Amino acid sequence: MNPTSAVRHVYLDCDLGVDDSLALCYLMASPAIDLVGVGTVCGNTSAEQGARNAIDLLHIGGRDNVPVAVGARDYRTCPYVCGVRHIHGDNGVGNIELPHADRRPDPRSACDMLIDLSHRYDGELHILAVGPMTNLAAALDADPTLPTRIASVTIMGGAVQTAGNIGPITEANIGHDPEASAIVLDADWPITLVPLDVTMPNTFEERHRAQLLDSANPVARAVGEIMDFYFEFHVPEYGRRCSALHDPLAAAICAGGIIPTAAPKVPAVVDTTDGPARGAVICDLRGQRTGWHDVDGAHVRVTLGVDRPVAEHLLDVINAPHA
Ligand code: BDR
Ligand code: CA
Repeated sequence: MNPTSAVRHVYLDCDLGVDDSLALCYLMASPAIDLVGVGTVCGNTSAEQGARNAIDLLHIGGRDNVPVAVGARDYRTCPYVCGVRHIHGDNGVGNIELPHADRRPDPRSACDMLIDLSHRYDGELHILAVGPMTNLAAALDADPTLPTRIASVTIMGGAVQTAGNIGPITEANIGHDPEASAIVLDADWPITLVPLDVTMPNTFEERHRAQLLDSANPVARAVGEIMDFYFEFHVPEYGRRCSALHDPLAAAICAGGIIPTAAPKVPAVVDTTDGPARGAVICDLRGQRTGWHDVDGAHVRVTLGVDRPVAEHLLDVINAPHA
């Protein structure tokens, strides 16, 4: 870490599944991050199960002091139905039974905890959102002044110039709750979007997973086991056991450990119609075919390239002696 750069206070909003687990492991290990709260939302698993997974992983890492709050159990306009057990397992963590921590979730909702944290770290709170946008939209509804107290919002979501994963051009975190996502992208806060365009080409391979399993870091060893199930899901897409690095890449960008390169600020909206693009992020990239540039007044930076290999960076941080 650059000695002049300050540690970032981060609120993590997640649907704690497999790649969320690796992101949490990275955040716990990163010297650039002060993890001040975790909120969960339905998605890869239920909001309650996600909170249980977060509490148990934090406990393995000796971080029982980080509050974990349960958030939205359903999306804005439709009830939650978990349809991804074949991706993240029945419990969101690849069917691995984590040691059960003797701790209950924070009594506040994730939305209320986020608002409280925004006052406590006024102007210095960074939001990392790697699940559906439901909690963030609820917090904006409850307190429209929230953006004035937030330093940055990093969102894993969208498929900008590539195929989607829950629809032809729709990605899960944005597409599961399009109305909430539209509110979040429209709010006046600085957003860095980390879409499938950059998360799909950056993979975690068996040789990387072996380094987790051999790590001195106990959270890394647990995540190495958790990822086994997820690797199998990716075989049809990649032709081998491996995984995309969705949430971990967003975490590394939030921490400043990985820098977006091709990353223009552009107008970005979410399609909330009922057509085939429902839930897609539409970024206006007109005029950007031969070089990226920021569009005046735009507040969404869309990441289309990064400055270094992601898996190696994650392992460097996770396996560092201090981790
Ligand atoms: C996103 O959806 C979830 O399944 C992953 O955890 C990631 O946040 C990828 O589309
Ligand atoms: Ca996620």
